[in-house]
Amino acid sequence: MSRRNKIYEGKAKVLFEGPEPGTIIQYFKDDATAFNAEKKGTLAGKGVVNNHISEYIFTALADIGVPTHFIERTSMREQLVKAVEIIPVEVIVRNIAAGGISKRLGIDEGTPLPRPIVEFCYKSDELGDPLIAEEHVLAFGWADEIELEEMTHYALRINDFLSGLFAGIGIKLVDFKLEFGRLYEGEDCITILADEISPDGCRLWDMKTGEKLDKDRFRRDLGGEMEAYQEVARRLGILPNAD
Ligand code: C5P
Repeated sequence: MSRRNKIYEGKAKVLFEGPEPGTIIQYFKDDATAFNAEKKGTLAGKGVVNNHISEYIFTALADIGVPTHFIERTSMREQLVKAVEIIPVEVIVRNIAAGGISKRLGIDEGTPLPRPIVEFCYKSDELGDPLIAEEHVLAFGWADEIELEEMTHYALRINDFLSGLFAGIGIKLVDFKLEFGRLYEGEDCITILADEISPDGCRLWDMKTGEKLDKDRFRRDLGGEMEAYQEVARRLGILPNAD
């Protein structure tokens, strides 16, 4: 992977220049971080599993009409995606209280929320991705009103779809994080789903046992991270052999 031009290296992925202008290769690493990289580790094979899970989900989302950056998976750890300008706002959708919202508002983990709640965080490693209001997004120009409306609309649509998809394989979709980007096509600029959707950025609980099948296993030192990620892939019918 060192022969290509690296554009960016994040906590779990590396982006390289793609073969055509306007394309990028997204490489999935085995590195795991939590609490804004205060906790670091390596989960052997995570990159392979997340690449396949994200491919599966982005393909299914495209099928229901959600525009995404995904073009094709090109290897066990890589996928070809459209180059976008990332909107510096993380969109979180919550169905059941856990993690951040439980801490902030004193709601017991596992409490179903009255309706899906969409939250926004400012994408900044330096600041630890702080929770922000729509007002901040607009006032600081991180996204405009149309983009904000589209991100919210797509986030709820994705939540509906993924909640059903996971329910079908015995998993509760507790919450998840999305990132969107701007795709410039001539004069036009459209908002499309970017980044990845995998157990790194979702909370997924087994419906029968309540077992956590996501990155909380790493964050909370529960162990069995890879078995959990592989179980999600297995239930989706896409268990790849780790390389
Ligand atoms: O920590 P918190 O409860 O706010 O996280 C909500 C959801 O968003 C979780 O599924 C978590 O994995 C995801 N998330 C993420 N990246 C962040 C913040 C949250 O993937 N920077």
